[in-house]
Amino acid sequence: MCGIVGYVGQRQALPLLVEGLKRLEYRGYDSAGVAMMEQNRLSITKSAGRISVLEQQLDVDGSTATTGIAHTRWATHGAPTEINAHPHGDASHRIALVHNGIIENYTALKKYLQQKEVPFVSDTDTEVLAQLIGHLYRGNLEEAVREALRDVHGTFGIAVVCADEPGTIVAARRGSPLLIGVGQDEYLVASDASAILAHTSQVVYLSDNEMAVISADSLHTTTLDAVPVTKEIQEVEWTLDQIELAGHTHFMEKEIFEQPEALRNCMRGRVDLAEGKVHLGGFADVARELTRARRFIMTACGTAWHAGLVGEYLLEDLGRIPTEVEYASEFRYRNPVIEYGTVTVAISQSGETADTLAALGEARQRGALALGVVNVVGSSIARETDAGIYLHVGPEIGVASTKAFTGQVAVLAMIAAFVGRRKHLSQSATQEFLEALSQIPDRMEKALENNAKAKAIAEAYADRDNWLYLGRGYQYPVALEGALKLKEISYIHAEGLPAAEMKHGPIALISDGMPVVVIATQGLQYNKIISNIEEVRARGGRVIAIATEGDSQIANLASDVLYVPDTLEPLQPMLTVIPLQLIAYHAAIARGCNVDKPRNLAKSVTVE
Ligand code: AGP
Ligand code: GLU
Repeated sequence: MCGIVGYVGQRQALPLLVEGLKRLEYRGYDSAGVAMMEQNRLSITKSAGRISVLEQQLDVDGSTATTGIAHTRWATHGAPTEINAHPHGDASHRIALVHNGIIENYTALKKYLQQKEVPFVSDTDTEVLAQLIGHLYRGNLEEAVREALRDVHGTFGIAVVCADEPGTIVAARRGSPLLIGVGQDEYLVASDASAILAHTSQVVYLSDNEMAVISADSLHTTTLDAVPVTKEIQEVEWTLDQIELAGHTHFMEKEIFEQPEALRNCMRGRVDLAEGKVHLGGFADVARELTRARRFIMTACGTAWHAGLVGEYLLEDLGRIPTEVEYASEFRYRNPVIEYGTVTVAISQSGETADTLAALGEARQRGALALGVVNVVGSSIARETDAGIYLHVGPEIGVASTKAFTGQVAVLAMIAAFVGRRKHLSQSATQEFLEALSQIPDRMEKALENNAKAKAIAEAYADRDNWLYLGRGYQYPVALEGALKLKEISYIHAEGLPAAEMKHGPIALISDGMPVVVIATQGLQYNKIISNIEEVRARGGRVIAIATEGDSQIANLASDVLYVPDTLEPLQPMLTVIPLQLIAYHAAIARGCNVDKPRNLAKSVTVE
């Protein structure tokens, strides 16, 4: 998921690689490293933390190596420590490899290699691939890489060097971007053009299941099955800024549009349609305790709390287990009742939110099993839990959380199916649920097609200072999340409500022309929400409805409608939140606000 840069040519490689790593910093990372080839000597240097820390350990100007590979890691398997940082080597210390992505079947491969007495030093999935290549190496690096990749499931962009073949880099990809920069008597390899653009704008983009072997004077491309492919050299026309944002104007926009891919990564290797099962490796040691669980308590803050609320509905629906959601800040200072069989779940993108961390401590102290649903691997919350599931949605940089929310809901849906199957959920119901879940990324692509319409709506109402968001059932947390998104980046006052609560007070707020966003997708309470729409209309409110594709009635009632594809009701939040994220994003721009760094807010709230 993070950054790769490599160089082979006539120049000193190290300054070039360090500069390339710095260009990749914007993507977010937790550790970094380089492997340099000086004649037949391979040296690996890595460190946890910033690239500047790595730089202090290197003699950047003194290195005479003309071949090297480098990496910024964003951990998915194993804490962000020096040992887990890339490059990873093999047992003979002749191979070094950098990797973006996830090796799904690393446990099975590791077991196989351990039987052959291959010693492992790190907790990463990546080291397994490095060791496998080393194990298969018989004097031809390209062949060894090809053979190893045959056994690998998952995603990878890799660059590999071998001490016995100085002056050569082997690169390959599947599901993780990789390109080759073409220079004068030199080639570069990178996961992102920004890393090499200072040196060349001529690139060859590798496609999935292709590999390249590069040396100072040759580039040789084939498929992973060794069929030669002729690649076109293309000119990168983007500026560095454009590349960092992949053509988007802000990180928030990029992250909203990344959601289909992020969710595919989140579910990869977990949702097993062939067996109608969810595999949650992180829960392997606590599966029995989960089966016996009598109550779940979710603790979180902000957007993660909203995801927890969806999780409450999911766990009660699918698992038939009593579930509560608590603001972490309240939970930690109350005198919460934790009985035998209570499972707490801390939900957090950053894994560093002080209130959530403290709530987790409180729950553990009282004997609850503590689980984590966290994005940042090795973060404080991830370390403190008994077991957990990572989101794997990649780094989130925009302060307003978007892809982490849908990732959290997806993980909670998988947990609900995992626990539900051990309680009351039949095999056929589980199968139906998982099939619908696996279709969510494609349906998100459709939901994103609302962008232009969401922009027009946002612009039309951006001057209104008060908005309401209404939803029922599974859409109630989405109403809260839509309102939070709008207020945090556009500074418009917005309130989210369970729609039926409106008549108990907030209805007094509705005045002529007030925007009221109503999530009115098909489901158990559709007719009820239509009545709420009527109540808003009767008082002059302007209804912006989020509805299911094919609903022919709603356009007659609402001023504006944004349609999302149909899916099972418990999974709808992952689709209905998208138009709300888009509305908030465009409203903030229309009001001239700093979308990625809104006033008064920090990405990670590490204080009480
Ligand atoms: C979301 O848009 C917010 N910036 C904020 O509510 C955030 O979700 C909250 O601070 C929790 O953060 P965490 O997920 O990193 O724990
Ligand atoms: N899965 C690998 C790891 O955790 C690669 C992560 C990345 O893409 O940075 O080390």
